[in-house]
Amino acid sequence: MSFPDVRLRRLRRSEPLRRLVRETRLEREDLVLPLFAVEGRRVRQPVSSMPGVERLSVDEVAEECRRVVDLGLPAVILFGVPAAKDARGSGADDPGGIVQRAVEAAKRAAPELCVITDVCLCEYTDHGHCGLLDGEEVANDPSLDRLAATAVSHARAGADVVAPSDMMDGRVAAIRRALDAANFASLPILSYAAKYASAFYGPFREAAESTPAFGDRRGYQMDPSNRREALREMELDLAEGADALMVKPALPYLDVLADARRRFDVPLAAYQVSGEYAMLMAAAANGWIDGPRAMHETLISIKRAGADFILSYAAKDLAARLAP
Ligand code: PBG
Repeated sequence: MSFPDVRLRRLRRSEPLRRLVRETRLEREDLVLPLFAVEGRRVRQPVSSMPGVERLSVDEVAEECRRVVDLGLPAVILFGVPAAKDARGSGADDPGGIVQRAVEAAKRAAPELCVITDVCLCEYTDHGHCGLLDGEEVANDPSLDRLAATAVSHARAGADVVAPSDMMDGRVAAIRRALDAANFASLPILSYAAKYASAFYGPFREAAESTPAFGDRRGYQMDPSNRREALREMELDLAEGADALMVKPALPYLDVLADARRRFDVPLAAYQVSGEYAMLMAAAANGWIDGPRAMHETLISIKRAGADFILSYAAKDLAARLAP
């Protein structure tokens, strides 16, 4: 059968009909809001490159988490901006560190919220790299213990999920072993498995103060040109014990998401990163695009490609717009 018997426009004639045949939906349940914790009290510092995003002191994180629950979002992911940094990133696994206190405050204020933590050293090292240095090289194996200790400290603070984003080889296995040994065998690992060395992390590095002091992250994060390699990263992370996988950034890597969806039967996350958010907000602020519609369309695309859930700085705004 073909035209004129087939007319695809018949099912597009009204909004209720379109709703009925819609293949992909964006719901509040799909969204995770990233939060940045900073030292101080009653602090809300706007991040200039990310309109609508603020760095929050721990007391404000707690309040924000209440609002997040009231908006119907299931989860947040926490990043810490410590007051002091050193070569080994001592703040990362400090039981009294910024993220650990933020997790405790978030869980106290909103026990029903799923609190994910980003496990990495870059916000805590004075050189800004995601692992320990050996000369100018980021040393893989010596970094694993630091990352594992960081994950365990997050678990002790009450994190519901740990999400390693450092891209060291073998870190999922190291974290799994350390969690199990510390009696956290039930704590899931969401691995940033396919994380690319992307230009779209710029605004995040302003917010997290994690720009590398020299060089870049191409020695450990993935080359944007590679697609098959992402599947190898994901395969290995699953073999090491990852419970869910992430692709990051999201919109420029929809092919990788679609490949991952076909290949793996585990939950898949996508991170709409700071630069993706900043681009949309900047164009909208100039009146060049309809901001809310463009944001919704990009997130639908990310879901359509295969993501089960999305980390997005627009999560709160979207939740407020999406009907319960
Ligand atoms: C930490 C980390 C980064 C992001 C998430 N975790 C920065 C980086 O790798 O440089 C980026 C998130 C964003 O841009 O929104 N390693």
